[in-house]
Formats: sequence, structure tokens, C-alpha cells
Amino acid sequence: RGRLLTFLAEPRAVDDHGSYVYEGDGALLVEDGVIVASGAYAEIAPDAGGAKTIDHRPHLLLPGFVDAHAHFPQMQVIASFGTELLDWLNTYTFPAETRFSDPAHAARIAGLYLDELASHGTTTAAVYCTVHPESAEALFAEAERRNMCMIAGKVMMDRNAPEALTDTAQTSYDDTKALIARWHGKGRLNYAITPRFAITSSPEQMEMAQALAAEHPDLHIQTHLSENHAEIAFSQELYPDCTDYTGIYEAYGLLGATSLFGHCIHLSEREADALSDSGSVAVFCPTSNLFLGSGLFDYQRYRRREKPLRIAAATDVGGGTNYSMLRTMDEGYKVIALKGEKLNPLASFWQITRGNAEALSLDTRIGTLEAGTDADLVVLDAHATPAMRLRMETVETLAEELFVLQTLGDDRAVVETYVAGGAVKSRL
Ligand code: GUN
Ligand code: FE
Repeated sequence: RGRLLTFLAEPRAVDDHGSYVYEGDGALLVEDGVIVASGAYAEIAPDAGGAKTIDHRPHLLLPGFVDAHAHFPQMQVIASFGTELLDWLNTYTFPAETRFSDPAHAARIAGLYLDELASHGTTTAAVYCTVHPESAEALFAEAERRNMCMIAGKVMMDRNAPEALTDTAQTSYDDTKALIARWHGKGRLNYAITPRFAITSSPEQMEMAQALAAEHPDLHIQTHLSENHAEIAFSQELYPDCTDYTGIYEAYGLLGATSLFGHCIHLSEREADALSDSGSVAVFCPTSNLFLGSGLFDYQRYRRREKPLRIAAATDVGGGTNYSMLRTMDEGYKVIALKGEKLNPLASFWQITRGNAEALSLDTRIGTLEAGTDADLVVLDAHATPAMRLRMETVETLAEELFVLQTLGDDRAVVETYVAGGAVKSRL
């Protein structure tokens, strides 16, 4: 029981009241991890049916947050000083990822990562593991134990990285096949074919990614695209026959409606058209893009161009500096402001719930509070800190309350997180 908020469509403005459903005294009836009824408390009357009522009034109940791009093996990379993308990878990230050949280390970090997600209200994420199949084993095993809807994959990388962090075209294919067979579709788990980016995959490995995608057309594909100028130049040098960076992935058949491209900051119009025509998703990673000095993602232009892009939002931990989708959208708001635009708070909360679920093609299961969907929920308190309480004294509307949550909120504003109906933050 609490104040329910769920989105029906992307809100076009703060007064777009048709884009969401709000119940001031609402309830969700949950059975076996699924929402079986959703609406006004008086109508659902869960107590009458003998259900145990958890009273979250006066807090807000929303669908759990979705993070569309993160690297769980980079928990110890966050806050590494002083570099841009390619130096950051070589100096900090690759050494940290090397440790994931050890299954005990992988299991420890996988558990801590999913704890952080729970603590920050994130119930689903699209996650990069390391090159080691052990790292994917660890994450999937831990996510299955917690009943989470996760997307993840072992990174494919066979060049331009330390020896200890490279596979080969053939082993990347074989290991990916084995992981798909073992984990895809098990519980709520989804496997993502994960070539890291063009720089670390040889043409032979890209062909293997293409073969995997052709053999498993329903699977997600995740990679990085157009994040940093040096990265773009090096990619084009490595694939001189391709028109542009996007053209590399295009040449290997990797664009499509289940393809997730991290960053997409410096796209040409041709590249944006190619992403749009194929239904590919551009993933906005504001804290990472700012931290690594990569650039400003033009969210509003991508949305409004003649051929609009499908967009998701993500932390990109550990290039990203926070696990929180609230902190992520706060930084996102500022990036969009630097482009002379404003993202209204309703659109922001739509993005990190239903919007991201749609971008990940998971919206029939998650991202809403509709009956029949999985009970992945977040409970938010806009009065969680002294600064928030003070600011809330002058707040009148729901949109304003959401904006306070986004601007001042973090894990302290997350009262509870439910995964498939089970409390995972307080472990009630
Ligand atoms: N490009 C290739 N690998 C990575 C990574 O781990 N993080 C980021 N931000 N960009 C990448
Ligand atoms: Fe990334």
C-alpha cells in the first residue's frame, strides 16, 4: 500500500497527465512474484482476501529502476583519477578486469554489485562481464539466486588488450554458446552477445559475433559506439573499409531492435539514421560521459529528429560514478541543459522505468505496475534527508516531488526495493 506511480507513455510535458497513472492511496496485490491487481486501495482491498499488507504510506511506489548499461567488474574502478577513455581502459580498467579469472573474486563482486543495485532501487540491468566466462557464471548465478531479471554477457575481446584479458574469435564463440545454453531463459535471465567494441575485436571475432546474432536473433547485443574522439579515429583506422564507426557494426549485421549501443555521443547524421532505421538503441550514460570528458549526448535532438532514436539511460559503472538512476538522471538533466533543453521530471522517471524497459524490449514483464507484470518495485521517500525535507516544504505537485527526488535523492531516498515480490533492500 502506498502512492502508486506508473507510466503509460513518454510524458511530453509536466502537465501531460494522460501519460501516467497516479493513485494517492493505492495498492498492489502480489502473488508468486507477479502483480495480480493494481489500483486504488479501497478497490483492491487486499486485507479482505487475507493478503498480508505492507504499508508504505506516504511513500511513492514505482516500477523498479532499469539500468541499460553497466560493467559489474568495474566496481573498484569508480573514482580512478585523471584519464580519458583509452588511457582509462589501459591504466585502470583492464588491470581490474584481469582479476575476474578467479571465480571467488568474481562471485564476491557479483554479490556486492547486486547488493548495490538493490540498495539504489535498480531491479534490472544490462551488464558487461569480463572476457572470462567465470565472470558471467558468477553474475548469472547470483542474479538467479535473487530471482532478478538481468541481461548480461561475457565480453568478447581478442586484441588491443593485455594477454590475460583476450580470448580468440573461436573461444569467444564457443564460450558465448556455452553460456547461452546454460543461462539464457533460465529464471528471468537474458544473455547478451557482448563484443566490447570495435577496437578490441578483430574482423574474425566480429564475424563470430555476427554468427551468434544470426543463430540467436532474439538475444540482445551490447557494445560501445562513438564515445570518444580518439576511440572513433582508432576504430576507423582498424576498419578502413567501413564508412564510419557505426558502419563497422552494420557491416557485421549487429544493428537491430535488440542492439544496445553505449554512449553514441559523436554520431554523424548518417550514423543516427542507420541506428534509427534498424531500431537500434542509443544508451545515454551521463555520469560516465562527464567523468571521462567524453562529450554531451544530445538527448532531445536524437528524440526529435525526423528519424528519432530509441534511447535508454544508464550508469555505465565504473566509467559512471554512481549506481543510482536518480543521480544518473540528475546529471542527465544538466547535460541536456548544456544543450539548451530541459528534460521534464515525468519524462525522466518514465525513462528509467518504462522507457528503459521498452528500450530493452522487456516492457511486457517490467517497467510498469500493470497487473500481470513482475513485481519489481522501488519505494521512494522524498523526505529522506534534511535537505530534501526542507525543500519539500514548498513542493506542491507530483512533478516537483519527482524533481526533488532526482536532484537531491540517492540510495537514502530508496526505502525498499522488491524483486519478484521479495524485499531485497531491508530484507523484510
Ligand atoms: N569502451 C570499451 N570498453 C569500455 C568500458 O569498459 N567503459 C566505457 N565507458 N567505454 C568502453
Ligand atoms: Fe560501458
